Amino acid sequence: MKIQLLAPLFFLLIAENEAKVFRRCELIRILEKEALNGYYDYSLGDWVCMAYYESRYNTSAVGPPNSDGSMGYGIFQINSSWWCSNGDGMTANGCQTSCSSFLDDDISNDIQCAKRIVCDPNKMDAWVSWTNSCKGRDLSQWSAGC
Ligand SMILES: *[C@@H]1O[C@H](CO)[C@@H](O)[C@H](O)[C@H]1NC(C)=O
Ligand SMILES: *[C@@H]1O[C@H](CO)[C@@H](O)[C@H](O)[C@H]1NC(C)=O
Repeated sequence: MKIQLLAPLFFLLIAENEAKVFRRCELIRILEKEALNGYYDYSLGDWVCMAYYESRYNTSAVGPPNSDGSMGYGIFQINSSWWCSNGDGMTANGCQTSCSSFLDDDISNDIQCAKRIVCDPNKMDAWVSWTNSCKGRDLSQWSAGC
């Protein structure tokens, strides 16, 4: 009986652990630790600006469907047509993982996949919102004050 009463609370706690909205400086510390500062010549400002416009730093964000039915997953909105599998439609699955693995509060796998994405010729232009809102701008404010 006791266990039955506790079960809903237990799952509530788990659910809370899984999704997370980062604060900017908290995200910067992790990006720095994972050596993204200067990765392919992109600054921390590029990464933080991109994550802000893609997901508002929300690790559980799932984007609205693209024209081909694919969707973006997690803080970097990694897309299901190229980089992960959501079990729905064709995918190149370049990062060899399920899209839902990008929705928890541990973003180390998101970062590993993002590092793979910028290896491609498009580099950070793979993220349309980065191209539209961050590219070629003074991004120093994005990484300042932490
Ligand atoms: C984060 O994204 C999830 C999934 O879209 C949404 O339910 C949640 O409200 C978002 N959190 C914030 C603080 O915007
Ligand atoms: C999906 O990823 C590819 C490769 O990074 C990129 O070229 C494309 O713009 C992305 N598509 C969407 C709809 O985000």
